[in-house]
Amino acid sequence: MKKIQPSLEEAKSRYSELIQEIQRHDINYYVLDRPTISDREYDRLYEELRALEADFPILLVPNSPSQRVGAQAVDKFKKISHRVPMLSLQNSYSPEDLLAFDLRIKKVLNTKSEISYLCEPKFDGLSIELIYENGLLTGALTRGDGTTGEDVFSNIKTIRSIPMKLQTKKPPKLIEVRGEVLIFKNDFLKLNQEQQDDGEIPFANPRNAAAGTIRQLDPKIAARRPLRFFAYAVGAADGISFKKQSDLSSQFADWGLPTVSVGEKLCEISKNGPLSLLCDHAQDAVLYYQQIHQIRKTLPFDIDGIVIKVEDLLLQEELGFIARSPRWATAAKFEPEQATTKINKIIIQVGRTGALTPVAVMEPVLVGGVTVTHATLHNQDEIDRKDIREHDTVIVHRAGDVIPEVVEVLKEKRKKDSVPFLIPNKCPICH
Ligand code: IVH
Repeated sequence: MKKIQPSLEEAKSRYSELIQEIQRHDINYYVLDRPTISDREYDRLYEELRALEADFPILLVPNSPSQRVGAQAVDKFKKISHRVPMLSLQNSYSPEDLLAFDLRIKKVLNTKSEISYLCEPKFDGLSIELIYENGLLTGALTRGDGTTGEDVFSNIKTIRSIPMKLQTKKPPKLIEVRGEVLIFKNDFLKLNQEQQDDGEIPFANPRNAAAGTIRQLDPKIAARRPLRFFAYAVGAADGISFKKQSDLSSQFADWGLPTVSVGEKLCEISKNGPLSLLCDHAQDAVLYYQQIHQIRKTLPFDIDGIVIKVEDLLLQEELGFIARSPRWATAAKFEPEQATTKINKIIIQVGRTGALTPVAVMEPVLVGGVTVTHATLHNQDEIDRKDIREHDTVIVHRAGDVIPEVVEVLKEKRKKDSVPFLIPNKCPICH
């Protein structure tokens, strides 16, 4: 049957309708977590769009969903300067330091009044800057050294929770949206299963998987990986200004960007509720730290602490920066559950039943607040799969009371004369 060709005018109007509709469904699915159509219907819309682009190539626009994939692989990433440097945060591991931070702020501002803070989760991914010009996504950079980042636009475009176009009729001339790219925990487990099925080395954790994916030179690989994004800060802006830190979050959400919502009471903070808290004084930030620490295991993504930011942006300006960090924000991290150390030797433990278990004896290292010296290597298969050898530098992981495990070998640190480890086939005790 012959296809009836629409006129160019008709095609144009249907085309822009389709772009908007697909973007709306992407936001419903990825940002609001409330899909309103089936995958099949979605695919049908996408096919219709592709067909129109094939029949009327003149219509193609850069913010079309079809432009998310298909960019060519590159040899290396281009380096681009940030318009506004991407700084880092001062860290501590203790919530009490939040109170010291608050005192410092009051001292600099020469005030005894309470300061309002926005408390946010500290996402454990990698920071990325999105560049929107007149509402269109036109670039994306890694943080790099803070002054110059790498152009990872073709990988970032594949992330469907990042709108190609801001949802507004009046976009600012320029807005740089900063946030974190990460992989959800359940997506990570699936991804690692696939890696294993394909005979590839599994990733150590969601953060490594996200970072490794963004570094891929071929965007087709990024397109197959379940990357997500959360927005939390602004770089350069032209044609828009904000008064409060929490205004960013509501503006981002209005534009269709993924962000965590802001609550005003500590009791609202929960895995299904808001994850950020606007508080009137620093004591609440300490309680927020404890609450978030408790629910972190139940969250769909990894966080490694909290960030607190002075809510009033005029005060932020007044506070300014010290070295490479803002004076108006700080991070309180959770004790890491992973650390790097060295295997001194591998011993064989003989169980009650005579079963032989290889155990790594390591340089003592603090993991999640506990000193770890031994990690189980399970069996020969596990040793072979992770290629663990004596004298290797390794990442160890300890979750709660679980026996520490070697997650990954840092092969680049391995000595040339190292040899694979084999469990002896005779019992070391009774032979
Ligand atoms: S605000 C001036 N907010 O932490 C820095 N950063 O050490 C402004 N991060 O590289 C950053 N969650 O990758 C901010 N809610 C959050 C964050 C966050 C994670 C990361 C970010 C940055 C690092 C700072």
